[in-house]
Amino acid sequence: MKRFIFLGAPGTGKGTQASVLALKYDLPQISTGDILRKAVAEGTDLGKKAKQIMDSGGLVSDDIILGLIEKRLQEPDAQKGFIFDGFPRTIKQAQDLDALLSGADGISGVVYFQVDEEEIVQRLTSRRTCGQCGLNYNTITDPPPADFKCRVCGGAVIQRDDDKESTVRNRMVVYNEKTAPLVKYYQDHDKLYAVDGSQPVEIVRQQIIDYMNRF
Ligand code: AP5
Repeated sequence: MKRFIFLGAPGTGKGTQASVLALKYDLPQISTGDILRKAVAEGTDLGKKAKQIMDSGGLVSDDIILGLIEKRLQEPDAQKGFIFDGFPRTIKQAQDLDALLSGADGISGVVYFQVDEEEIVQRLTSRRTCGQCGLNYNTITDPPPADFKCRVCGGAVIQRDDDKESTVRNRMVVYNEKTAPLVKYYQDHDKLYAVDGSQPVEIVRQQIIDYMNRF
């Protein structure tokens, strides 16, 4: 069974690769960021709690996230494996996940995306996203249509509130403090596969495919 975690700072390409590889391997892409953004858009209690934290670049509490994951893992499509995109994000989340999957061996592997901070800031501040289907655009390399309607679903293309430069910088601080320790955690469990995420998208993808095919 393929059970993968895509780990890395904001903007390193986790979502870009996970969306395509989930289709290739017929696995669900489980993005806690997407689940939270949907809750915010729907105005649920969870969404109301999460919005302010997300807009500031902080992390939603471990308890809330674990509740979401526990529920998501019970759905039928997650029984065949999964790609976690942006989860876990703290040591506590990783330990709780291990407990849910009966130990760190329940994970096939962890793909760790490495990209320089300045490139990340440039990527995220120029990212635009379809609010409906989630497709990413980039004002420099892949601009959205002039009317800002998504070329796939027609939804409105917007800038995510947390992609403004000051919030991106704060997300990096939070990443370095809370999430970066997971690199050692998974290294110690012999699960980590590092990829240079600053290479072109197709090259990064092929390296991940070569890795995922080992399982
Ligand atoms: P989340 O949605 O998970 O955001 P993130 O991890 O910060 O990830 P991003 O979506 O910004 O980046 P990505 O690595 O997926 O990059 P992408 O492929 O889009 O989380 C948002 C918020 O929700 C968090 O801040 C937190 O508040 C909360 N949250 C979520 N999960 C949580 C959890 N587990 N615990 C607590 N709180 C949680 O690419 C970025 C850009 O780069 C795009 O424009 C793309 O086109 C471009 N790009 C991608 N690859 C390349 C490449 N190889 N070369 C050039 N450009 C590239």
